[in-house]
Amino acid sequence: MLNILTYGESILTEKANEITEFDQSLQRLIEEMHEAMQRDHGIGLAAPQVGTSKRLFIVGIDDEPLRVFINPHIVASSQETTELEEGCLSFPGLYFTVVRPLAVDIEAVDMHGKPFRISADGLLARVIQHEYDHLDGILFVDRVSPSKRKRALTHYGRMLKM
Ligand code: NI
Repeated sequence: MLNILTYGESILTEKANEITEFDQSLQRLIEEMHEAMQRDHGIGLAAPQVGTSKRLFIVGIDDEPLRVFINPHIVASSQETTELEEGCLSFPGLYFTVVRPLAVDIEAVDMHGKPFRISADGLLARVIQHEYDHLDGILFVDRVSPSKRKRALTHYGRMLKM
């Protein structure tokens, strides 16, 4: 079973690499990420969070089929933004409100290398943006004001010592 890395691991703040091989090992990675995400009750997980520097993330909201995004590009974002409380499997127990565009259009390829494009809003758009950020080494604590970020990380540091 894959471990999910937590804040402080350097791979979480690095830009991940494009995927060029669509083989068995990629399928196995996706299956193992899916298991790890379900075990930790997440709704999204990016490959760098399991220690793999690849541009891949998965989204699984409620009982919807698993969505796999490889080499994704957010090609459009709505002007309209929304505030929503986010958590991250790499920051267990930390939640705070983040402002992001309400809707996005994203292009990616699936696990067989086949291109697709979707328009997402609501929770799906939110999870996509959060996971997409992980591929560029951007964490949800980077999407809030510096003072809020500092408070959050101080709080997180304190929680880790408990
Ligand atoms: Ni996350």
